[in-house]
Amino acid sequence: MPHADSSFVPSSIVSKADFWDHVYTQLVALLEGQRTWVTNLANTSSTIYNSLLAFPAHFGDGERAVNWCGFYVDSQFFPVPRIVMPDDVGSPSKLLLGPFCGKPACQYINVAPSTARGVCADAFIRQATLLVPDVEAYPGHIACDGQTKSEIVSPLILERGTDRLVVGVLDLDCLALGGFTEEDKLGLERIAALVVNACDW
Ligand code: SME
Repeated sequence: MPHADSSFVPSSIVSKADFWDHVYTQLVALLEGQRTWVTNLANTSSTIYNSLLAFPAHFGDGERAVNWCGFYVDSQFFPVPRIVMPDDVGSPSKLLLGPFCGKPACQYINVAPSTARGVCADAFIRQATLLVPDVEAYPGHIACDGQTKSEIVSPLILERGTDRLVVGVLDLDCLALGGFTEEDKLGLERIAALVVNACDW
């Protein structure tokens, strides 16, 4: 099967639960045999984004469309540990923009307790998925795209025995208020666990 067909959504899929099961199954096949995080996160963001746009019962490509899907990853996992940029982007306690689909987005997100701000930082620090039905009502929300109305962010949690390490976050934006539901939360958390365990960090 051509790789692009991984984001094809059969018309027989109508419920969100079936949709997320389908995307999960596609990703299991797509990630097989690859352990490089940048490669796997790139294919994961593309598969989720394009599958959502191909699923009219969810968002489709109209006013309720998902307009961004991607990852922010702890700077320690980037191949160049110290990136020379203003504000010391390569220092610890920052998430750097990783693979994504959608319009350009902010390059990094502070997660140090003194400077942390925004949905991604909060999900990373709390190690929990955050469902934001109205981004303008969320204190500290970082607006990468003024058209975004709602957002969901799931942490990428690597579990090794009793240790939990958060390596980054999976972030989705939507053009509509209340674009994401508890079903999306469950689907994305399952995918976040799949992709984080499919990579060597
Ligand atoms: N809104 C996010 C920033 C990332 S963009 O949405 C792609 C936040 O508040 O952390």
